Amino acid sequence: MNAESAPPSTPYVALGGSEVIGRIVDRFYDLMDTEPQYRPLRAMHAEDLTPMRVSLAGWLCAWAGGPRDWFEQNPGKCMMSAHRGLRVNHETATQWADAIARAVAECGPADQALGKAMAERLELMAQAMARP
Ligand code: HEM
Repeated sequence: MNAESAPPSTPYVALGGSEVIGRIVDRFYDLMDTEPQYRPLRAMHAEDLTPMRVSLAGWLCAWAGGPRDWFEQNPGKCMMSAHRGLRVNHETATQWADAIARAVAECGPADQALGKAMAERLELMAQAMARP
């Protein structure tokens, strides 16, 4: 492949693509499902986390510059608006950010600076969803 036809480098590629993102998401929901400190966050979610595992993985792939299937399947859907009615507060947003940071650290890219940057941006989004 020559330089002209090479696909652009994206965070998605640097992260390790859908395989690594899928591992992060599975670990995130496993932590949420099993660790006592995330009980308030877990209680906000439906019993069956399977649809959320699929959706969050798809959203993260698209967000990171990978395949845009999630955006195409959810035209015009905004994650911030989708969470507005969910009564996210500072406590549960912090739990979400903590669990995703742990999942990224455990299952994310070997490049720790990249994993940290990903977790930091997701934390900003999670905290921006919180209402007093
Ligand atoms: C960067 C931050 C976040 C992202 C990217 C994100 C992403 C998602 C995605 C993709 C879904 C699947 C449902 C759908 O497709 O609409 C979902 C569901 C959900 N999220 Fe988040 N989320 C974030 C933060 C949070 C936070 C901070 C909370 C709570 C404190 C939260 C609570 C929920 C709940 C309760 C559901 C499921 C609703 C149901 O049971 O159907 N999320 N989120």
